[in-house]
Formats: sequence, structure tokens, C-alpha cells
Amino acid sequence: MRRKIIAGNWKMNNTVIDAVKFINEIKDEIDREDIDVVVCPNNLSVISVVNELEDTSIEVGVQNIHPEDKGAYTGETSLDMVIASGAEYAIVGHSERRAMFGETNEFVNKKVLKCLEKDITPIMCVGETLEERQSGKLFDIIKSQVTVGLNNVEDVTKVVIAYEPIWAIGTGVTATKEQAEEMCKYIRDLIKDLYSPEDSEETRIQYGGSVTKDNAKDILNMPNIDGALVGGASLKKDFIDIVNF
Ligand code: PGA
Repeated sequence: MRRKIIAGNWKMNNTVIDAVKFINEIKDEIDREDIDVVVCPNNLSVISVVNELEDTSIEVGVQNIHPEDKGAYTGETSLDMVIASGAEYAIVGHSERRAMFGETNEFVNKKVLKCLEKDITPIMCVGETLEERQSGKLFDIIKSQVTVGLNNVEDVTKVVIAYEPIWAIGTGVTATKEQAEEMCKYIRDLIKDLYSPEDSEETRIQYGGSVTKDNAKDILNMPNIDGALVGGASLKKDFIDIVNF
């Protein structure tokens, strides 16, 4: 039985003061021992948010990491720094990073491997543009993102995969629950081919893209969708309703 995982991606929002204030507004309303709940603040707020969440079951993640251990990578964050801050998850390959910062499938793969080496759970994002969906190349795109992203990964069950169609991110246009389920099932079948039926059954696959308190329940009840990666709605108290779906 796969444990559901709902993660909030705060993106470039909230100063440390805002982050601490907000997490204190929501943390007591979130009490779900049966699922994993994760918030991913900006790096400057991670330590403070970890401290505020000490006595709760809510976990903390970062939004990006660099695959090298240390060195001359101005502006980047290593996994050792993440570990020292108390975070346990890292979003990798978010479509905004792919589109705005030129991250390739190969680079995303390096990040996934480094997370696994350091025992941080990677949330690996994949997703197609509207053009790719309409051109019918949809499944090929996702296949290469998943296959290259998981290259040399031995234990796929330690990776969380987030299917996030780009046309649904921040647009208010959610994929229908059938569209989301179709792709999450496709990814699960792919993992069966790449690994084994057992690994495929155990690997968690989230949906992300305009998840709201109004659509969360329908999406999260689909058989192959094991959670959600939530952007905009995770910045509001709506996140409480999403988590308590
Ligand atoms: P959204 O973002 O919920 O605001 O669409 C999702 C994401 O980018 O992870």
C-alpha cells in the first residue's frame, strides 16, 4: 500500500518572517499520520520552518539542489547543506527550472542520483507542454523524461515522481482526473518495464498543476495518483483542506 504524499511548493514566495507566520497558522490543523505532508520553502527560510515544525509530522523540502558536493557554483545549494538544515526532500527538475534555467533530463538525473546517495528523497518532476500534448508526442516526452531522469537509479521506490503538465501549472487549468490518472498509470507501467512489477507498485507518483481544495479529493482518489505537488494553493490556508482531503 503506497503512502500518499502531498507537498507544497512555495516557489519564490514568503520572506523568513512570512514563512514562520504562515507555517504557524496552518501546522496545528494538519495532523495526518497516515500520509506524508511536506512543505518546500525558499532556502533562506528552511531552517526556521524546520524549527517551527519540530513537534509535528510535517516534513520540509527544498525546491532545488546542485548535484556537486561543494565548490565554485555561485548561488547553488549542495545536498550536505540541505541535510544540515534539516530538510528531507528535494524537488528536482521542476518545469520552471527546466524552462527558465535550461535544466536537461541528464542534469536532472545527476540531481536524483545525488539525492539518493545522500538519503534525501527526490521529488522528480516531469510534464509536457500544451504543444507537445496536442502534437501527440505526449507519451514519448514523458517516457524520455522518466527514463533519463532515472538512469542508474537502483531503487526507484525511493524516488517520488511528480507528473506536472506544464499547461496546468499556475494556470488554473487543471488536468481532468482522467488525464492525470492516464499519465500516472503510464508512468507506473513504464516503471514496471524499467524495473519490476513490485517496484512499480511501490513507487509513488504525484499529480501537480492547479490542484486546489475543490479538486484535490477527486484527483487524490484516483488509483494511480499517490499525492499532489501543490503550488499556488499551498501558500494559502487552502493547503489545510487539500491535506485533509
Ligand atoms: P500550481 O503549481 O499548483 O500553482 O499550478 C504546481 C507546481 O508548480 O508544482
